[in-house]
Amino acid sequence: MQQKIGIVGSGLIGSSWAIVFARAGCEVMVFDRDPETFEPSRRYIQENLGELAALGMLKDPEAVFQRVGFTPRLEAALEEAAYVQESVFEQLEVKREVFERIDPLLRPGMIVGSSTSGIPASRFTQSLSNRQACLIAHPVNPPHLIPLVEIVPAPWTDGSAVEFTRELMETVGQSPILVNGEIEGFILNRLQGALLNEAWWLYQEGYATADDIDKTVRNGLGLRWSFMGPFQTIDLNSPKGIAEYAERLAPLYLSVARSRSDPQPWSQEAIHKAEQELRQKRVKGDIPKSRIWRDKLLLALKKWKMDAGLQ
Ligand SMILES: NC(=O)c1ccc[n+]([C@@H]2O[C@H](COP(=O)([O-])OP(=O)(O)OC[C@H]3O[C@@H](n4cnc5c(N)ncnc54)[C@H](O)[C@@H]3O)[C@@H](O)[C@H]2O)c1
Repeated sequence: MQQKIGIVGSGLIGSSWAIVFARAGCEVMVFDRDPETFEPSRRYIQENLGELAALGMLKDPEAVFQRVGFTPRLEAALEEAAYVQESVFEQLEVKREVFERIDPLLRPGMIVGSSTSGIPASRFTQSLSNRQACLIAHPVNPPHLIPLVEIVPAPWTDGSAVEFTRELMETVGQSPILVNGEIEGFILNRLQGALLNEAWWLYQEGYATADDIDKTVRNGLGLRWSFMGPFQTIDLNSPKGIAEYAERLAPLYLSVARSRSDPQPWSQEAIHKAEQELRQKRVKGDIPKSRIWRDKLLLALKKWKMDAGLQ
C-alpha cells in the first residue's frame, strides 16, 4: 500500500500505529511536541518489528523500519498524508488544541482519526472548518497486535470519511467496526465495563478470589472469546441455536441484571485487597516485565489466528 500516513503523538499508541501502517507498506511520518519521545518510540518500533519477524510474521523488518520517519514539525507529518492518526494525551483540552492545529493543514479528501479512548469527537471538532473529515478510530493496546478499531463518527462526519477509514483499516490488516452514535465507552469498553462491574461485585462480596475470577475468563469464557463473540457463542450453546438459547436462559440473565439495579462505585477496600492479591500471585510487582510477557503471548495468539485463517 502506497498511502502516506501522519501520526500525531509518539507515545505507546502512536508508536504501535506506526508499525501497523508501515508494515502494510505505507510511508509514515510521526510528529510529537516532545522530540525526546522519538528515541524510545524508534526503539519500541524496531524491537517489535524484530519480534514479528522472528515469528515469521514479517519478511523485512529493516525495510519497514525505514518507512517510519520522525519530525518535530506538525506540517511535515501532514504533508502529502492521506490519513492522520492522532494519539496525544487523553485530555479534552489537548485534543482540542491539536485538532485546531491540524484543521488548517487539511487538504480536500484528507481524513483524521483520533485514538481517544472515550472523548466523543463532537467535543473537540465542533468548531473546525474541516470537521466533516474528523472521526474517532479507537484502537486496542497495542494495535499492531490487537486488530480491533472502533470507528465512531461525530454527527457531522461525512459518510465518505467513515468509508475511507473503514477501508484503510481493513487494507492495513486491522479489524474495524462501526459505532452508530457517540455512546460513552463505545462498544468495547461497555462490554468490558459490564464484565468488570460484575467481577468487582462478586469479589467484594467474597464469592471468589481475584485469581479464581480471572481463571474463569482465562480458562473458561476467554478461550472461546479469542475467536468468537457472545452471540456466536450462545448460538452454538443450544441444539437449535440462538433463539432456543434465548428461550431457555433469558429469564436467568434478566434475573441477574435485575439484581444489579443499583450500581455502586467499586469499593476502595476491595481495590486494596485485589491489588495485594495480584501483586503476590500474578505479576510479583513487576508490571513492565508482565507487559512484555502479555505481548509475547498476544503475538503467539496472533500468529495462531493467522495460521488458522482467522485473521
Ligand atoms: N494506552 C492505551 O491502552 C490506549 C488504548 C487505546 C487508546 N488509547 C488512546 O491513545 C491516545 C494516546 O495514548 P498513549 O497511551 O499512547 O499516551 P502516551 O502518554 O504514551 O503518549 C502520548 C503522546 O502524545 C504527546 N503529546 C501530548 N500533547 C501533545 C501535543 N499537544 N502535540 C503533540 N504531541 C503531544 C506526548 O508527548 C506523548 O508522546 C490517548 O487518547 C489514549 O486514550 C490508549
